[in-house]
Amino acid sequence: MSSSPANRYERLLCEFYDYIPRCVARPDRKFFIGYARAAQGPTLELGCGTGRILIPTAAAGCTVVGLDLSRPMLKKCREKLRRQPKRVRQRARLVLGNMAAFNLDQTFGLVTIPYRGFQHLLTRREQLSCLRCVNRHLFPKGKLILDLFPISPAVMGDPRALQEEEVSPEVKVADGRRIRMTMRASAFHPRQHFNDYETIFYVRHLGGRKQRVVQKLPLRYLFRAEAEQLLRRCGFRMASVFGSFEKEQPKKNSRHMLIIAEKVRECAGRTSNRMKRKRRRAAS
Ligand SMILES: C[S@@+](CC[C@H](N)C(=O)[O-])C[C@H]1O[C@@H](n2cnc3c(N)ncnc32)[C@H](O)[C@@H]1O
Repeated sequence: MSSSPANRYERLLCEFYDYIPRCVARPDRKFFIGYARAAQGPTLELGCGTGRILIPTAAAGCTVVGLDLSRPMLKKCREKLRRQPKRVRQRARLVLGNMAAFNLDQTFGLVTIPYRGFQHLLTRREQLSCLRCVNRHLFPKGKLILDLFPISPAVMGDPRALQEEEVSPEVKVADGRRIRMTMRASAFHPRQHFNDYETIFYVRHLGGRKQRVVQKLPLRYLFRAEAEQLLRRCGFRMASVFGSFEKEQPKKNSRHMLIIAEKVRECAGRTSNRMKRKRRRAAS
C-alpha cells in the first residue's frame, strides 16, 4: 500500500499513542465507564482509536461498539482486544467508518465521542451530519457525550500558542526507540472556527539517528451556545455541562467542556426499515 502523509502519520501516532503519558493517563475512563454502566443499552464510541476507553469499558461488563476512520488505529485496538479474556472480547465490536456518515443498523443507549473526536469535523455540514447519525442510532432518551476543549485566548489566536509546547517528556517505546512529543498551533482560522495544530514527534532511533516528524492536525472549536444550538437542531437537549471528569461546574480556567446531551426527539433523515423495527421493539 502506498504511504501517503496521512497514513504515515496514522502509523506513527498508532505506534506511539499508547506511550504518550498525556493520552494514556488521561483521567477520563471512570467518567465514560460510569455513563456506559448507567446506559439503558449498549454504548457506541465514535473515534475509538486504539481502545484506550473501549477496552476498559468492555472489561467493566458493558457491551460496546467502536467506530473509527483509521485502519491502523483499529488494527492496534484489535490486537489489544485479542489479548483480553473471551468475555471481554465478546462484548466489543469494531467498525471502520466515518462518524459524519454511518449506519450500523443498531441502536444504543449511549454514544460517546471522547478526547476531542468531534472537533476533527471541520465544517458545520459534517457536524450536523454526525449529530443526525448519532440521533438515529440512539434509543429515545439515549445520551450523547461530547468531550471538547473550551475556548480560551490561546485557542482564539494568542500568538504564544504558536510556540511548541511540551506534551510528553521522552519515553521509551517497546522496540527501544525514544520519543518526545510537542504541539503547537500553526495557523488560526477564526472565521471558520478552526485552528491548524502540529503534533511534533522527536524520535531517537536505536543507532542514534534523530528524526523530527510533524503532523498537521486541524481542530474545530465550539462555543457552548453554538454546541447547544447544533444539538437542538438535531433532536437533543443539553442536559449538563461539566468542566472536569469529576463533574465540576465549568469555570473560567476549566480544561474541558464535557457536554451530556439527551435525545428528545427523532431527527429527520433516512432510517432503514430494519432500524425502525428495532426501535419499535426497544420502545415497546
Ligand atoms: C484523539 S483520538 C481518541 C481515541 C480514543 N477515543 C481515546 O480517547 O483514546 C481521535 C480518534 O478519532 C478518529 N477520527 C478522526 N476523525 C474521525 C471521523 N471522521 N470518523 C471516525 N473517527 C475519526 C481518529 O482516527 C482517532 O482514532
